[in-house]
Amino acid sequence: MSWRPDTTGAALVRGDVALGDDGLMTNRQWTEDEFRNLQARIDAARSLGYYHHIAITDRAGHTLATSGPHRTHRAMPVLEQAGFPRDLSGKSVLDIGCNAGFYSTSAWLRGARRVVGIDRCPHYIDQALLVREVLGLTSSEIEFRVADGHDLTADAEAFDVVINMGVVYHLQNPMDFLTKIAGLTRELMFLESEMLIDPALSDYAWFIEGKYLVDGSNWWIYGPGCLAGMARAAGFREATFSGFTWKPKPGTTTPEGTLRQGRGVLICRK
Ligand SMILES: C[S@@+](CC[C@H](N)C(=O)[O-])C[C@H]1O[C@@H](n2cnc3c(N)ncnc32)[C@H](O)[C@@H]1O
Repeated sequence: MSWRPDTTGAALVRGDVALGDDGLMTNRQWTEDEFRNLQARIDAARSLGYYHHIAITDRAGHTLATSGPHRTHRAMPVLEQAGFPRDLSGKSVLDIGCNAGFYSTSAWLRGARRVVGIDRCPHYIDQALLVREVLGLTSSEIEFRVADGHDLTADAEAFDVVINMGVVYHLQNPMDFLTKIAGLTRELMFLESEMLIDPALSDYAWFIEGKYLVDGSNWWIYGPGCLAGMARAAGFREATFSGFTWKPKPGTTTPEGTLRQGRGVLICRK
């Protein structure tokens, strides 16, 4: 069996790692014992919950998987259409709120010369380190560390490209955060977030405080126009809404009875 991925688009392959339509692949072959031990370690790391569902298949067709609800490889084609860079050759990339590291890995597969993934939750960084180990990669390919985006200072390392996905609605002080991130972005920020779907509300933001998807860390939902203005005020020369990547069926509500909103992407340039 070939370890190269089946894909409807161009395959992403770097060294012994690849990404296809069914997830990540490694040109390694686990023994039965290794496979069982790795899956047991992956399962043990879910004590505080997985968000990323990451599937990794070896040369013999054995698949290890993390158990989160966000089916990462299925999201990738939609994100690419919204402007997730296809080619990151020679770029340095910061992935803020990297979770179990799928998008950091994806940036490395796209040729990035340096990838750093940060997350404020140590258990997500533990998951990212485990996934990286399963792929046979090390810190020289992708560096993961526990850090809060709020604590990045003006003299922090700058990056050509920043991946900022699924984070800004979790922040109480988004302008402070975006200003810090703009200060360390050289070229482009890929900004993905919950967004208000009603076009009449595009220039507004909703302070959602404890009423959204049973997650007390959901504070704001922004209209695309509002978030674009915030990104420009934070220091980006240009912030363009590239569209919704997901929308609920009309009238869908959260368990709290709040109208469910969509997910969208802004491409922000320095
Ligand atoms: C909804 S998940 C998104 C994960 C990933 N970026 C993605 O799009 O699949 C939000 C992640 O951001 C992290 N996070 C939230 N606020 C953060 C902050 N201020 N600094 C760093 N990480 C943060 C959370 O711990 C969590 O892993």
